[in-house]
Amino acid sequence: MSPTSPIRAVLALLLAAAPAGPTRAQVSEPVSEQLPTQAQARRQAPALAVPPAPEPPPIQSDEARLLPVLASRGMVSSQDALATRVGVEILRKGGNAVDAAVAVGFALAVTLPRAGNLGGGGFMMVHRAAAEDRVADTIAIDYRETAPAASTADMFLNPQGEPDRAASTRSGKAVGVPGTVRGLAEAHRRYGSGKFTLAELIAPAERLARDGIPVESGLADSLPRAAGLLGQWPSSRAVFFEGGHVLPRGATLRQTDLADTLKAIAERGPDAFYEGPIAQKIAAAVQGAGGIMTAADLAAYRPEIRTPVRGRYRGYEIVSMPPPSSGGVHLIEILNILEGYDLAGMGAGSAGALHMLAEAMKPAYADRATWLGDPARTKVPVAGLTAKAYAATLREKIDPERAKTAAEVSAGNPLPHESDQTTHFSVVDAEGNAVSNTYTLNFSYGIGLVAEGTGVLLNNEMDDFSAKTGARNAYGLVGGEANAVAPGARPLSSMTPTFVFRDGKLFLVTGSPGGSRIITTVLQVIVNVLDFRMNLAQAVAAPRIHHQWQPDVLMAEEGISPDTLALLRAKGHNVKVGATSGSANSVMAEDGLLAGASDPRQRGTLAEGP
Ligand code: DON
Repeated sequence: MSPTSPIRAVLALLLAAAPAGPTRAQVSEPVSEQLPTQAQARRQAPALAVPPAPEPPPIQSDEARLLPVLASRGMVSSQDALATRVGVEILRKGGNAVDAAVAVGFALAVTLPRAGNLGGGGFMMVHRAAAEDRVADTIAIDYRETAPAASTADMFLNPQGEPDRAASTRSGKAVGVPGTVRGLAEAHRRYGSGKFTLAELIAPAERLARDGIPVESGLADSLPRAAGLLGQWPSSRAVFFEGGHVLPRGATLRQTDLADTLKAIAERGPDAFYEGPIAQKIAAAVQGAGGIMTAADLAAYRPEIRTPVRGRYRGYEIVSMPPPSSGGVHLIEILNILEGYDLAGMGAGSAGALHMLAEAMKPAYADRATWLGDPARTKVPVAGLTAKAYAATLREKIDPERAKTAAEVSAGNPLPHESDQTTHFSVVDAEGNAVSNTYTLNFSYGIGLVAEGTGVLLNNEMDDFSAKTGARNAYGLVGGEANAVAPGARPLSSMTPTFVFRDGKLFLVTGSPGGSRIITTVLQVIVNVLDFRMNLAQAVAAPRIHHQWQPDVLMAEEGISPDTLALLRAKGHNVKVGATSGSANSVMAEDGLLAGASDPRQRGTLAEGP
């Protein structure tokens, strides 16, 4: 390890935050003897004096090429118009943001089956505005899938000891214990307005499943791509196929079993899903596909209420998802680094600004590979990673002219293929309560298996664990011991549902799908608004870049000028222009008005107010 290695700098700052104890597998030296403490590092690299928060872009300006939707009594922004309208209707009837979000969550399981789900998991950030009887607060609901009790650290290694990608993505072993149903029910129970029963919030989803929905927009786009995955399983063919082919554009998708499952949950609560016949059918389907999940695993599943991670960026407060998501921690880490640069002066989309973004992303993803995992099993040094002083040491290593190379790049690593496999929605109500929710089956349609007789598509979230230290998952993310498979553990996630506050008032609700690119997508929405003063529609639509340290590739969406790309290449970046990144369905609040922007990268998205 060279004296200037990024890992050394990481360790220096993390020591103070991490408890004394055995060092991680990747760390070969007794670091405590060689590295400065966090306090020493702070003296060496003073945090920046941050100028006053910049004024946000005017919400009502009509002088832009793209304009957000405006409303004053609430806003829902999701990846599917039918689901957005379900949420808007709940707001119209007097529901709060959580009521609407729960209804949207159940509706997306029907209308966006590639990512909306009952058989997956996710994270919901809830902001409750101050009211007569309480001060404002923000809560994180973790309804991430868990590893079945019979899971073992080496369950995704082949006999040669190498990662078995098919096992972790396409077999029953890939399925984590689903968290969505208990997660949404818990959100309703704790933070709903009390004006709606869970059954009333599930009813629109049940109706859409039973009456059927048109195969159009995003559904028509995604079904043909998933034909191979879904077609392997007779139970999935029964739902999504007709005459040997996936349902074509213009057909009607009816999901009767799913409607019955929703009805059972509406009548008997989440236990109807986690215990009894539905749970038994899910366990049987997983075991039939070679998996190890049991009905007891389902019965044991519980969501966790967590304290969000907090940071500040140019005077705004960033509040986001804590571990087992890596999202909030690294979003704040990257923003902390960027705070030292005059991005606005460099200009949106300039090679200078994009270079700084890329260079700030790399150390964060290197940290992710070493330090992040399920907080129930590993001490994640959140405070160290999100410290301004730590960012200052990382910033010192950034060269404004030259791209840093990743030390351990193995040549020819394929880029992870982007498709839209997770989904994010944002909801704000008239009182200023808000929900930022990202949930997923991991891959598009998960493992493609509908549990016979339930209509429930099953996730392949177990691939988010590291099959072994240093191995990459499907998104090319390197994982460490902290993210090893273990019974009951939650796999590390990148999902980053986020709020931004200005002077304590809700300002922005955002998040995105995109696998490893989620963190950098959310980052760029925030930077586009706060540094480049774009309105929300522009901030969401602007072309994005992504660098995740390994593989050493700067991914760029189309729409960045060839001149800029040439300048980035001249700085040493290995630029690849390719697939789109994310679907950041967002809401911004200002001066009593709400701006909504759904992401134009997908067909059929919608932001709408009541
Ligand atoms: O939790 C995670 O980070 C991943 N399972 C999310 C997958 C995802 O966003 C795929 N979407 N493109």
